[in-house]
Amino acid sequence: MTAGCEVVRQRPNITRPATNVSPMSGGLGSVSRGMARKRYQRPVSLEDPAEQAIVELVRLGLERDTTSISQLARQLLRRQSSTDRSPAFREALGSLLVGRNDAVRAAQRSMPVEPESQLPLALIEGDPRGPVPILRSSEQAQIDALIEQREQARQLLDAGLEPPKTLLLSGPPGVGKTMTARFLAHNLGLPLLTVELAALMSSLLGKTGQNLRQLLDHARAMPCVLLLDEFDAVAKRRDDQTDIGELKRLVNVLLLELERWPASGLLVAATNHPHLLDPAVGRRFDLSISLTLPAQRERRAMLDATLSRLGLGADARITDACALALEGASGADIERLVSAAARQAVLAGTPVETSLADLALASLRTEGDLDLERRSAFCALATSQLGMTQRAVADLLGISHPTVAKLARRWHAESAPDLASREKLPVPG
Ligand SMILES: Nc1ncnc2c1ncn2[C@@H]1O[C@H](COP(=O)(O)OP(=O)(O)OP(=O)(O)O)[C@@H](O)[C@H]1O
Ligand SMILES: [Mg+2]
Repeated sequence: MTAGCEVVRQRPNITRPATNVSPMSGGLGSVSRGMARKRYQRPVSLEDPAEQAIVELVRLGLERDTTSISQLARQLLRRQSSTDRSPAFREALGSLLVGRNDAVRAAQRSMPVEPESQLPLALIEGDPRGPVPILRSSEQAQIDALIEQREQARQLLDAGLEPPKTLLLSGPPGVGKTMTARFLAHNLGLPLLTVELAALMSSLLGKTGQNLRQLLDHARAMPCVLLLDEFDAVAKRRDDQTDIGELKRLVNVLLLELERWPASGLLVAATNHPHLLDPAVGRRFDLSISLTLPAQRERRAMLDATLSRLGLGADARITDACALALEGASGADIERLVSAAARQAVLAGTPVETSLADLALASLRTEGDLDLERRSAFCALATSQLGMTQRAVADLLGISHPTVAKLARRWHAESAPDLASREKLPVPG
């Protein structure tokens, strides 16, 4: 097998598995760590070589030791005879190792560094993977359209048109901007190069700014998805009266880049504060997609996906009610809540449903003005899942306890009348 320098691999189809689970979350794909050359050592010895390899791969993956993972994979390819393993297996493993990783490694090696810390100004993930973002359908449609136009770039170029090359992703914290950039890179078959613009701009304060230019030249030269995170740092800097002018020039450089970014790459700028951006800046992007907080359907899907990633599951009506209770939560909040519920369940030895309901309802307990639907869900969950008495729920919500019973019955009847007799969720009252 020969090592080539082809960075762009064959574009895979848009991957959107039903479970929202991806085999790796940026672990093996990242070449930003573990670059030191070290010899791969096998620490444990199992009889079955396939089992041995799996254990080792998992261990190295958890240690994010990408160099040793590559070495082990190469050993596997050399060791197994073609009769031992299927050609498809060998080809799949081989294609992960050939070319792309070497080219990405070379790009990481020549990455400009921050002058003082000597840390690279950007991180490269050669094969970005991770959970698939769960978006509202209008947002998803825009992302799909972008992928489709990039897939058909050749056709567009032949017709004298350019595919979208720059994208502004805006939205509140934790709604999936970074994961959407990673999803795009994965589906376009491009490496992901991430730059924390705020950190970079402040680290460059008073310096020549040469590094930023070098970095952009670097990113322009390799087909990649360049993620400029915290893009609003640019706008803030622009208005900064204390700035001696150098940063203003840099910002102008950046804005110019937006106009001449090559069609082989995609520049994605992410911001939590789109209102801080100069309208002229917003107009320079080919596309602007605003991600919003998830609605009930998406919150429910996020709960299910996160539970399933942890190998857990919960009754559909409980996740429904929890999703209702979590109105206003971001994807990141939901992920944190499910992880906390899973930890709590393990340590307390209770079903995850109980801790999930407990944590999801915690915010509602302090919220005075609940609408009827959320009030009903609260009454149902608190009485059936958390074992709270109707009187306790009534005191908490400031309503009478017969009302609690009525609302809980309403929730059970409306959410799943056919399941109302299930043991797990006894209908109260
Ligand atoms: N739309 C989503 N679908 C599924 N999971 C999500 C979504 N949004 C956020 N998450 C979860 O929250 C985590 C953080 O999301 P991400 O970093 O992409 O948010 P962000 O919008 O970039 O936030 P920030 O503005 O703080 O940078 C993800 O790793 C994922 O677990
Ligand atoms: Mg982010």
